[in-house]
Amino acid sequence: MILVTGATGNFGKSTIDFLIKKGISSTNIVALVRDEAKAADLTNKGVALRIGDYDNYSSLVNAFTGVEKLLFVSGSDIVNRNAQHQNVVSAAKEAGVKHLVYTSFLGKDETPASPLWMVAESHLNTEKWLKESGMNYTILKNTLYMDFIPVFLGENVLENGLIYLPAGNGKVGTVLRVEMAEATANILTSDQHSGKTYRFTSHEAFSYQEVAQHLTEITGRTINYISPTADEFAKTLTEHGVPAEFIGLFSSFAVAQANGELEMVGSDLEQLLGRKTTSLHTFLKQVYSLSTK
Ligand SMILES: NC(=O)c1ccc[n+]([C@@H]2O[C@H](COP(=O)([O-])OP(=O)(O)OC[C@H]3O[C@@H](n4cnc5c(N)ncnc54)[C@H](OP(=O)(O)O)[C@@H]3O)[C@@H](O)[C@H]2O)c1
Repeated sequence: MILVTGATGNFGKSTIDFLIKKGISSTNIVALVRDEAKAADLTNKGVALRIGDYDNYSSLVNAFTGVEKLLFVSGSDIVNRNAQHQNVVSAAKEAGVKHLVYTSFLGKDETPASPLWMVAESHLNTEKWLKESGMNYTILKNTLYMDFIPVFLGENVLENGLIYLPAGNGKVGTVLRVEMAEATANILTSDQHSGKTYRFTSHEAFSYQEVAQHLTEITGRTINYISPTADEFAKTLTEHGVPAEFIGLFSSFAVAQANGELEMVGSDLEQLLGRKTTSLHTFLKQVYSLSTK
């Protein structure tokens, strides 16, 4: 039996869809959810629900009982994630899970010096706990979802004709979340991946200058790129009413990119998928040619 956590979220849901597409009977798939009311679509697909919360250890031990393979989708509560993830790994071990697949983080700098340490720390701790647990494990080091690039660009990027981010000339390798989920389903349905760590990234990395060029070509409008200092960026966004939490997150990713920390490319994902991943240009065309109609 395969249990998928985060099953009401994008990554978990997509992975379950790919498992079913690959011929795994929905009766062999179990979804961990916090709130049953958010999981009607899973029930309709014949996937059984188990209720559990990363904050509640005993709920996890109960939910994981009888599970052979567990896809542990990392939690979204960055502040409390260390304790939550420790709960998940320990509960899986106690419940007798044989193989745990974990969605981790990909970045060049895995030290507290990184602007992304607040995101990376709990992922790196979880990798360590998993390796020490004695369970079979597979670690998926997920790069930034390509799906998030439009969020970084801002909803008025075409109207403003401007990309404004403190990312300098730094590059980022990104992949669509759905393609990572597909490769994850491939891993969950094979016994060849125990003890492996995969870098889920693309074969090419790009700068925001290149994004601006793609958008100009796709939309026919001139899109420029300006890279302010992190302080100027924070000041401007604050003046525009953007909440501090978002400014901090955008700035951390952009500054890490400027430092070269996100210029991570590789072929693991393409090998697992058996094809090239969707290019940035194709993705931007899908998103922005609609906006120009
Ligand atoms: N690589 C990237 O670019 C990137 C970007 C953002 C996030 N991430 C990480 O990747 C994960 C998956 O991404 P996603 O897009 O699928 O995120 P998502 O749509 O926000 O889904 C997160 C899932 O985690 C569940 N969850 C959160 N806290 C939980 C808890 N305490 N106990 C049990 N379940 C909990 C949520 O349940 P509810 O539906 O009940 O809230 C939801 O099902 C994120 O959670 C985050 O760790 C990666």
